[in-house]
Amino acid sequence: MITFDHVSKHYAGHDGPGAVHDLSLEIPSGEIVVFVGPSGCGKTTSLKMINRLIEPTSGTISIDGEDTRKRDPNELRRSIGYVIQAIGLFPHRTVAENVATVPHLDHWDKQRIDTRVNELLELIGLPPRDYAKRLPAELSGGERQRVGVARALAVDPNIMLMDEPFGAIDPIARERLQNELLRLQQVVRKTIVFVTHDIDEAVKLGDRVALLSAGAKVEQYAPPAELLARPATPAVTAFLGEARLVRRLALIHLRDVRLQPVNGSAPKTTVAIGGTLRDALDAVLRSPDGTVAVVDGDRVAGVVDGTVIRLASQ
Ligand SMILES: Nc1ncnc2c1ncn2[C@@H]1O[C@H](COP(=O)(O)OP(=O)(O)OP(=O)(O)O)[C@@H](O)[C@H]1O
Ligand SMILES: [Mg+2]
Repeated sequence: MITFDHVSKHYAGHDGPGAVHDLSLEIPSGEIVVFVGPSGCGKTTSLKMINRLIEPTSGTISIDGEDTRKRDPNELRRSIGYVIQAIGLFPHRTVAENVATVPHLDHWDKQRIDTRVNELLELIGLPPRDYAKRLPAELSGGERQRVGVARALAVDPNIMLMDEPFGAIDPIARERLQNELLRLQQVVRKTIVFVTHDIDEAVKLGDRVALLSAGAKVEQYAPPAELLARPATPAVTAFLGEARLVRRLALIHLRDVRLQPVNGSAPKTTVAIGGTLRDALDAVLRSPDGTVAVVDGDRVAGVVDGTVIRLASQ
C-alpha cells in the first residue's frame, strides 16, 4: 500500500496553490491505480514523489506504513520500477544491457543477470536470440517501450511507476501494449501507478482511477465503472466527455446482461457472449433490423437490441 498523507509540492518562485496541493490518497497493493487529468494538473509530480525523484514540500508518503523519508533515496529508487514516456533507454547499450541496468547497480553476478534478462525478454515477447544484442535504434517504438517495461521489472520490484508509457505510440500498437500490460499484471501482480491523460486508457487499465484537476486535486477516486456511471463533480463529467455512456458499455459484460428470449428464428447478426455491451452496440448498428443474437458457442443465449442495451446501461 502506498499512502499519500496531505502531500504538497510547491516549486520555489512559483505562486499559487502549487503543483500538488494537499493530496491524500491510498493505493492498495497489487492494483493498477491510474492518475488521469489535464496537462499540468500534477500527475508526474505526484508520481515522482513516490520514489523521491521529487521531494514533497510537506506531508508524508509511506509505503506499507513506512515513511519514504526514512529510506535511502537511491536504494528506494532502485527498489521501484519506473517507466517514462521518452523511455530513456541508453542508446549505446544493447537491449540486454539496458534491461540489466539495475541488477548491475545491485552487483548481481553475471550468470544471474543473464538468466534474468532472458526470462524478462521472453516475458515481454522479444525472444533474446533475436533481440538481446540489438541497440534501441534498431527497435520499433513499441518494442522499445516493452524493453523499458522489462528494465523496470528487472529486480522484481513490488511497485511500478509508469508515466504515460504508451503516449507516443500509434493506437494499434498502443492497444497491444495495454493488453500485454494487463496480461503481465495477471502474472506479476505489482502495485502499479500509471499516469495518462487518456480517459479510455485509464478506464481500460485501472482497477481504480484517480481523476485529478489542477494542483492534483482529487475530483473522484473510484473503479472505472463507478466513475463512468456516477461522475462525482462537474469536472469529472467534463473530463469524461460526451461519450461517457458509450465508454461505460465496454465495462459491462454480456454474461451479466438480462437478454431477451429468442422468439422464433434467431437474428442473423451475432455477437459472442464473451464480449461487452459495446460489442453488442456495434452489432446492433450493423444488423438490418437492429436485433442481434448473443451466441455461446453453438447455442443462442438470447437476443440484444437497443432497448436491452439502454436498460442494461442504466
Ligand atoms: N521544475 C519545475 N519548476 C516549476 N514548476 C514546475 C516544475 N515541474 C513542473 N512544474 C509545474 O507543476 C505543475 C504540474 O506539473 P506536472 O509535470 O506534474 O504535470 P502533469 O499533470 O504531469 O502534466 P502533463 O500531462 O502535461 O505531463 C505544472 O503547472 C508545471 O508547470
Ligand atoms: Mg506529466
